[in-house]
Amino acid sequence: MATQDDVFKKIVSHAKEYGFVFQSSEIYDGLSAVYDYGQNGVELKNNIKRYWWDAMTLLHENIVGIDSAIFMHPTIWKASGHVDAFNDPLIDNRDSKKRYRADVLIEDHLAKIDEKIDKEVAKARKRFGDSFDEAVFRSTNARVLEYTAKRDAIHERFANALNENNLEELRQIILDCEIVCPISGTRNWTDVRQFNLMFKTEMGSTADGAMTVYLRPETAQGIFVNYLNVQKTGRMRIPFGIAQIGKAFRNEIVARQFIFRMREFEQMEMQFFVRPGSELEWFNKWKEARLRWHKALGLGDEKYRYHDHDKLAHYANAATDIEFEMPFGFKEVEGIHSRTNFDLSQHEKFSGKKIQYFDPELGESYTPYVIETSIGVDRMFLTVLCSSYEEQKLDGGDTRVVLHLPAALAPVKCAVMPLVRKDGLPEKAREIVNELKFDFSTHYDEKDSIGKRYRRQDAIGTPFCITVDHQTLEDNTVTLRHRDSMEQKRVSVDDLHRLIHDEVSINSLLRKLS
Ligand code: GAP
Repeated sequence: MATQDDVFKKIVSHAKEYGFVFQSSEIYDGLSAVYDYGQNGVELKNNIKRYWWDAMTLLHENIVGIDSAIFMHPTIWKASGHVDAFNDPLIDNRDSKKRYRADVLIEDHLAKIDEKIDKEVAKARKRFGDSFDEAVFRSTNARVLEYTAKRDAIHERFANALNENNLEELRQIILDCEIVCPISGTRNWTDVRQFNLMFKTEMGSTADGAMTVYLRPETAQGIFVNYLNVQKTGRMRIPFGIAQIGKAFRNEIVARQFIFRMREFEQMEMQFFVRPGSELEWFNKWKEARLRWHKALGLGDEKYRYHDHDKLAHYANAATDIEFEMPFGFKEVEGIHSRTNFDLSQHEKFSGKKIQYFDPELGESYTPYVIETSIGVDRMFLTVLCSSYEEQKLDGGDTRVVLHLPAALAPVKCAVMPLVRKDGLPEKAREIVNELKFDFSTHYDEKDSIGKRYRRQDAIGTPFCITVDHQTLEDNTVTLRHRDSMEQKRVSVDDLHRLIHDEVSINSLLRKLS
C-alpha cells in the first residue's frame, strides 16, 4: 500500500507534469524553497485569492482592501519588532553539518509520541469493535497514559522554554529526548542560536549612502501604517477591517515540504480594528468565520482543527491556528491573532504621529485593538491540491488520476470536444467555445481519442467536458460529462451556460457564508 509519503511525492510530480507548480530557475538547477506557478497553477491560485477577497470585501460592508508596497521605511520593522525579534532558534548537527530549527525538531518528536498513542487507539478499536469507547480507553489504558504523561511533560518544558526564550533549555530538551539528526543519526548537536529571517537589500546608490531596506516578511505592517489614511479617506467607523493580498519574504532555514514553507510566498491578511475590551469577542467571531470559509470548500470537515498557541507573542492576548491534515500531518494554514493595540502604538511611538480613533459613541479617543486573520495563499493551494488528488480505480480495471477541485476554484471550468475532426463538428464546437469563453475559462480539445481527452481534463480538475457529436448538428444537444461521477447527460446547447454557472461560480461558495 502507498504510504502518505509516496502519495505526497506523486502530488508534487503531478503538480509539475500538469503545469501547476515548477521549481524556480529549474534550468539552472533550481533555487531552493522558491517556486513558480504554471498555466494551471496561476488560475487556481487566482481563484483562491478571489474567493478570499470577495469573502472579505463583498460580504462585509466594513472591510475594504489595499495594496501596499513591498518596500517600506526600515524603521517600520524596528517598530514592529521584526529587526530585534523575528528569529528562529537554530541548531546544527556537527556530523552531518545540517542545520535545523530546534523548535521543529521538538515538535516532530512530540508528533511521533502522538502517533504512538493513535496507533494504540486504532489497535484497540479493531479489537473491541462497536463496543469501543475511545475516551475511556484513552483515560485508562496503561500504555496510553504513560505516553500521554511523557508527551505532556516534554510539552510543558518546551512551552516554557519558548516563552522564556531559553535557548539552553531547548538544547537540553533535544538531548533529553535523545533526538537524533535524521541524516547522520547522531546526537552531536551545537548550541542553539537565534537567526533573523528578514532579507535585506539596499535602496539608492552607495555614493549617496544607500539605505538598508527589507523585503517585507508579512503584509500586515503595510496595513497598520495605512490605518489612518484608510480610516480618514474611507470615513471608516470602528469596528472595521482592512484586507490585503501580497508577497512576503522570509529567509527560512528549514524550507521543506514543497510549497508549504517557502522563501518567497503570498499572504492574504485582514486586520480588524475594534474597541479596546471587545477584542476577545471579535477574536472568537473571526475564529469561527474563518473556519466556515475553509469548510465551505467541501474538502472534508474532519480535516480541520484549531491549535491554540502555547507561546503567545508578547503583544498578543489570544492566538490560534487553523490546521489542515496534509499528507505529512496536521499543519498550520492560517493564523488568527488578537494583537492588542501593540502595532498601532509602536508606530505612533516610532513615527511620532498620533494614531488614534475618536469614537463618536463613547465620546473619547483611543488606540484601536486589532484582530488579525492571516493565511498563506501557497499553503491554501497545497491544501486544495492534496485533498483533491485521487488515483481512482475504475470498473473494468482501468485507472484515472483526478483532481476533485472545488468547481469554483478549478483552473479550467469546461472543455469542449468535437467527437471527430470532420463533418462540421470542430466548427460547431468552436461556436460553443465562443459563447462560453466570456464567462468561463474554456478549453477546446480535438486531439487524441475522446477517452484520452477526458483523462487530460480530469488530471487538471476540469468540472465539465462537453462533447459535440453528429446528433448535435441535428438537434443542438451535446453530452455534458461531470468530472467526479463521470456521468454523461444529453443537454441542450442553450442550457449549457446556466448548468455550468450554477456549479462553478464563486458566488455559490460565497452564499454558503452569508
Ligand atoms: N502577520 C502575521 C503573520 O505573518 P504567520 O503565522 O507568520 O503570521 C501567517 O504567517 C501565514 O502565512 C501562515 O499561517 C502561513 O499560511 C503563511 N506562511 C508563513 N510563512 C510561510 C512560508 N515560509 N511559506 C509559505 N507560507 C507561509
